[in-house]
Amino acid sequence: MAEQVPEKMRAVVLSEYREDVAEAIARLTVQERPVPKPGRGQVLVKIAASPCNPSDLLLLQGKYGTLKTLPTVPGWEGAGTVVATGGGLLARWLSGKRVACALLGDRGGTWAEYFVADADNCIPLKADVPTEQGAGLIINPLTAMGLLQTARSAGSLAAIHTAGASQLGRMMIAMAADLDYPLINVVRRDEQVELLRSLGAKHVLNSSREDFAAELKALAGRLRATAAFEAIAGDMTGTVLNAMPPRSTAYVYGGLSEEACGNIDPIGLIFHEKTLTGFYLGKWLKRRGALGIFRDAGRLQRMIIDGRIATAIQRRVTLDEVADGLNQYVKNMTGGKVLIMPHGIHQRSTNENR
Ligand SMILES: NC(=O)c1ccc[n+]([C@@H]2O[C@H](COP(=O)([O-])OP(=O)(O)OC[C@H]3O[C@@H](n4cnc5c(N)ncnc54)[C@H](OP(=O)(O)O)[C@@H]3O)[C@@H](O)[C@H]2O)c1
Repeated sequence: MAEQVPEKMRAVVLSEYREDVAEAIARLTVQERPVPKPGRGQVLVKIAASPCNPSDLLLLQGKYGTLKTLPTVPGWEGAGTVVATGGGLLARWLSGKRVACALLGDRGGTWAEYFVADADNCIPLKADVPTEQGAGLIINPLTAMGLLQTARSAGSLAAIHTAGASQLGRMMIAMAADLDYPLINVVRRDEQVELLRSLGAKHVLNSSREDFAAELKALAGRLRATAAFEAIAGDMTGTVLNAMPPRSTAYVYGGLSEEACGNIDPIGLIFHEKTLTGFYLGKWLKRRGALGIFRDAGRLQRMIIDGRIATAIQRRVTLDEVADGLNQYVKNMTGGKVLIMPHGIHQRSTNENR
């Protein structure tokens, strides 16, 4: 029997951007709002779980590349069950299915009991993929895959990845191993070196060590790592690009230091044909096309089922606990995602095989 959809829902609301992340989090409220109505080609997802990613924090700070009209509901991705559709072939096919879903655009997000998703931004979850893992299926795993594909199709024989201990970085280690593709993982603490080694990473460098730039230069030269996936920005961008062999490209895809990219040796750009560019998942997905995404998502779900990739979860919170949960995540990002569970934490294993 079709599930009754209420008129009202509870949602986290962002009413003003604040550059300071702690202030931005403190100003979030939980409000009652009308349940949004799906239009043609859209579905209504009853959200079971939604993570906080760095891009969510950047939205709260007003620093993300695509901002939204305020007040708004944050949350760029999540997972849940399709409980209503606005019509259209794909939307109707998704009816009743468990899906991973994501938002591209200026409307209410996933930190709410219900979320309207474009049907073509939903991925049906395989029976053995837990909903909590589905909640993080789109943004990080597809970006890791997209970065690797971008570097390999540009002819790079190996790559460097900064923010190696991130969830995305940990997934990339497994994906690169599957492809037999050498990856130099850069972290900033010794515990993170140990963590990545325990996951099977062969090359791990600690950027806090004095000899880091020299070590990176030697290793990148030996492995011919002519691609770098750079998520820190600030001086790290230049430090990495300067250490790479001639004709290398650094793909900046994150700005975790919240600083401008710097420290770039102009000699490398002029005489050694090094290039600096960016990578944004939204653009890459458009180029990849629906069929390609469907295939990639199938492969990622098989990797989740086999236990080869996973999103680590450090805490699950209800809507009322969001501020506390986000503060915990900001203090310890390597510890794993904080999952927001709008319908309560007890419901996390419903509608799943495990
Ligand atoms: N361009 C795109 O389309 C796209 C798509 C997806 C993700 N991303 C980016 O991918 C990156 C990883 O995302 P995620 O969700 O996997 O991250 P995550 O799991 O939250 O982990 C973040 C990692 O970065 C480290 N870190 C934070 N600030 C740092 C700094 N200033 N210097 C060095 N390391 C720092 C943290 O280490 P500590 O514990 O030591 O703080 C942690 O290991 C983010 O930058 C995100 O924005 C971009």
